Amino acid sequence: MMAAPSPAEQIRQDFAPPQADVEEITRAMEAFARGHNSEGRRVVLITSGGTKVPLESRTVRFLDNFSSGHRGATSAEYFLQAGYAVIFLHRHRSMYPYSRRYSALNWLDVLRLLPCSAPREHRVEAVQSQLPGIVRVLQDYHGMKESGRLLPIEFNTLSDYLHLLLAAARALSPLGSNALFYLAAAVSDFYIPASEMPEHKIQSSSGPLQITMKMVPKMLSPLVKEWAPKAFVISFKLETNPEILIERARKALDTYRHQVVVANVLDTRRSYVVVVTSTEEEKLSISDEEESVGVEIEDKIVKDLTLRHTRFIEGTELN
Ligand code: PMT
Repeated sequence: MMAAPSPAEQIRQDFAPPQADVEEITRAMEAFARGHNSEGRRVVLITSGGTKVPLESRTVRFLDNFSSGHRGATSAEYFLQAGYAVIFLHRHRSMYPYSRRYSALNWLDVLRLLPCSAPREHRVEAVQSQLPGIVRVLQDYHGMKESGRLLPIEFNTLSDYLHLLLAAARALSPLGSNALFYLAAAVSDFYIPASEMPEHKIQSSSGPLQITMKMVPKMLSPLVKEWAPKAFVISFKLETNPEILIERARKALDTYRHQVVVANVLDTRRSYVVVVTSTEEEKLSISDEEESVGVEIEDKIVKDLTLRHTRFIEGTELN
């Protein structure tokens, strides 16, 4: 019997080549990780946003999911605040650190034209009252840019995501326990192999659609065992039924043997999570009062996890 292909082989065999220039991005990630590590800084890879799975190779339709990238973008800010260098692997056009606070704005309503003394010329001014907290956000954003501690990398399709995650893992592996993986992206569990995908648009005239999708290989398994075995790895578990949440998180820990699962329920994900390790269940929540003054659950998640990461590096974290 032939052995099942490894996840890395399966990605190469079954998925269309990535749209992203993986080699160039890999070099950028390696240089970024090496540079920050040599300055004694920890590096976190944050994955963020949902993945898109095409149903046709000349894609008209695809399978998508709900994730806005809020968790990843917000967490990136708190990791930067905690002194980490951040590789932010995010879905194209999903939320982005700092600008995420204004993602619901229509910019044309925020800008206004001011007449100039020269005829037919105008200046453009932002209406500051429509941009709450903008001074602080701009200071943080430009400070972060000058520090060179954020490397944003975009993915579009599931194929891009899988190739780039593998590349990132290889770039971070030399950092050993100083590398942290924070896998907040909502990754599709199903796909159609490139060889089985119809080339052209599926015709509705052929009647109701029936498709069979293959299971996407779980990246956590090779990540923990082979790609970056010394790193501190945090996965997320999302459920819609709170009753099975902890059991599912524990199952993931038992299966993949990584350090932490952050468990959350779709409807309450902005105000309540449970940090699950092999020995603990730490409930983190945001009260109404905290919410009213702008406290974010990601602040608490990142504080909790950076502490666990320190103990992991020092060899005092149980797992
Ligand atoms: O983006 P927001 O709108 O703010 O929402 C945030 C979130 C709810 C998406 C986030 O908090 C979250 O829970 N993300 C994980 C969603 C999920 O259910 O993942 P999963 O059960 O499909 O996968 C579990 C873990 O395995 C995840 O960390 C995932 O990154 C990883 N995985 C998944 C599939 C795959 N093929 N390989 C993987 O390694």
